[in-house]
Amino acid sequence: MTVRAVLKGVGHYLPERVVENAEIETWIDTSDEWIRSRSGIERRHFAAEGELTSELAEKAARAALADAGMQAEDIDAIVVATSTPDTTFPSVATVVQAALGIQKGFAFDVQAVCAGFVYAMANANALILSDQAKRVLVIGAETFSRIMNWEDRTTCVLFGDGAGAVVLEAQTGSGTSDDAGILATDLNSDGRYRDLLYVDGGVSSTQTAGVLVMQGKEVFRHAVEKLARTAETALDKAGLTSDDVSWIVPHQANSRIITKTAQKMGVSMDRVILTVKDHGNTSAASIPLALSVAKSENKFSPHDLLVMEAIGGGLAWGAVVLRL
Ligand code: UT7
Repeated sequence: MTVRAVLKGVGHYLPERVVENAEIETWIDTSDEWIRSRSGIERRHFAAEGELTSELAEKAARAALADAGMQAEDIDAIVVATSTPDTTFPSVATVVQAALGIQKGFAFDVQAVCAGFVYAMANANALILSDQAKRVLVIGAETFSRIMNWEDRTTCVLFGDGAGAVVLEAQTGSGTSDDAGILATDLNSDGRYRDLLYVDGGVSSTQTAGVLVMQGKEVFRHAVEKLARTAETALDKAGLTSDDVSWIVPHQANSRIITKTAQKMGVSMDRVILTVKDHGNTSAASIPLALSVAKSENKFSPHDLLVMEAIGGGLAWGAVVLRL
């Protein structure tokens, strides 16, 4: 008998304000046509003034708990993936823990930028497999609108705010790839590529939050090269191949990257969840957002095999193979 981290619930929250490409056209020298054709993005949500990452995270967590039919006190660990915390410390996860009224267990943040949710899922899986937690809330939550450089049209049109959450629960499986739950994870990073995607400020360097800087073309090149490989490595670890995949739930940065990755894996686009059009790039929130939206549209069936894959600043990248 093998312990598996099984998906019991998903939920999401998007801030009320929707910013269409047409609105951004009135702020900077860009066009709906350029944004749409280069990235696939049509609109994104922006948090209201004073609305914090932890508030988005809490709302997504409550939705995931409701979907799982669980109460907050059923949770014994919270892992939040974010690069846009409310404050330098404490962690967003402990803020969410208090907001949910949880007074036991533990909570911490994971920072792997756009790969954050994949890293958080791998961590939560390890906590469950090592019997340190039975029920884990895994949340991706971001307010990237706060770290945009509004003078840089090559980046500021791409990002948005939002949060998604899942509840994982320890269950026993047979130890085969037929089990429900996380079947394999694959994590990678290469810090030599720091300059391709970073924020130009921070506590220890400038004592400011800084703004996002990206060499988009280079990141694109790495994404296309690395995402299919990490997804296939994770599948291989699970004893599966691309032919077994029911759905790819990719990080939503650019529809062209998503399409090229699916092509490389030999998975047709009607088996890929695409939400970048409506959310923009929400960094660590994008995968759980996509998962939750797809579930609410009844896309998934029991026993479906999902592959989540993401790449972001670091560079950091990875994949999770999960059976429903
Ligand atoms: O989530 C973390 C990982 N991040 C990513 O995966 C992002 C990866 N990169 C990308 O998605 C793409 O590289 C971008 C969408 C960022 C850019 O697409 P691209 O096809 O690589 O465009 P480019 O940077 O080569 O720019 C092409 C042209 C340039 O004009 P010239 O020099 O060819 O005349 C830019 O000045 O487009 C121009 N441009 C714009 N025009 C209108 C750049 N930004 C804009 C803009 N509006 N917002």
